[in-house]
Amino acid sequence: MAARRIDGKALADTVLEECRTRVEALAARGVHPGLAVILVGNNPASRAYIGNKVKACGRVGVRSVVHEFPDTATQAEVADRIRELNADPSIHGILVQLPLPHPLDEAALLAEVSAEKDVDGFHVVNRGDLLGGHTRFPPCTPAGMMRMLDSVGTPLRGCQAVVVGRSNTVGKPMALLLLGRDATVTVCTSKTVDLAEQTRRADVLVVAVGRPGLVTGDMIKPGAVVLDVGINRTADGRLVGDVDFASAEPVAGWITPVPGGVGPMTVAMLVVNTLAAAGG
Ligand code: GUN
Repeated sequence: MAARRIDGKALADTVLEECRTRVEALAARGVHPGLAVILVGNNPASRAYIGNKVKACGRVGVRSVVHEFPDTATQAEVADRIRELNADPSIHGILVQLPLPHPLDEAALLAEVSAEKDVDGFHVVNRGDLLGGHTRFPPCTPAGMMRMLDSVGTPLRGCQAVVVGRSNTVGKPMALLLLGRDATVTVCTSKTVDLAEQTRRADVLVVAVGRPGLVTGDMIKPGAVVLDVGINRTADGRLVGDVDFASAEPVAGWITPVPGGVGPMTVAMLVVNTLAAAGG
């Protein structure tokens, strides 16, 4: 039997609908949530992601402002703007879109964002809190995937969860969120020897490497929940994930499509974090 698809777009719509109610409750208290987005340079993917974030904010009544810099911007120029936004009471959330162009120091700029406004959850304080098992701002993509897992009712306690990819934005925080739910977590990388041996044990398989077709159907345990974070553009212009959908779908129990899977949930969770920052 073919896997059922986890419709990230539909679930994101549900989350955003909840957000709209929370925005109204905040407005009744005189609070109007505001998000500032910093974009340096002209990375087309970053521009597209930001477009989706701004649109989602608009849908639920969160004010968003994009601060654009040329790719020649200096560390000091960007840091100064972040400090201004930290001090601006009308701004509740700040995000610095990654990647930043060379030679900007990403870690140093992320550290400039006030931990209280760090809606991406990338500040060292929030990353440290996550390591300690609690955080105000769980990083958006992993938080969105946890919502997806809960939406299909997969038992996480005691399950075998395998995360392929150890990025700071997705793989590492996802492993920590799964550990927090008592999953038995294995973190692999694209260099893992006999990756298939690991992935075949997974009840929950998260793939976030950025390599199209890395995971094929024969590497998946029958009935597993497969979450595909990859967004890769093929030579003929299609968007595909890191999982070979055609061979995976007949094996998995649940699977996220690309596009329309994890991506919309990342955006929805950013809005959720922005409302949390605004006290909603
Ligand atoms: N670049 C790719 N994903 C993300 C994200 O979730 N947040 C930010 N700020 N940049 C990204």
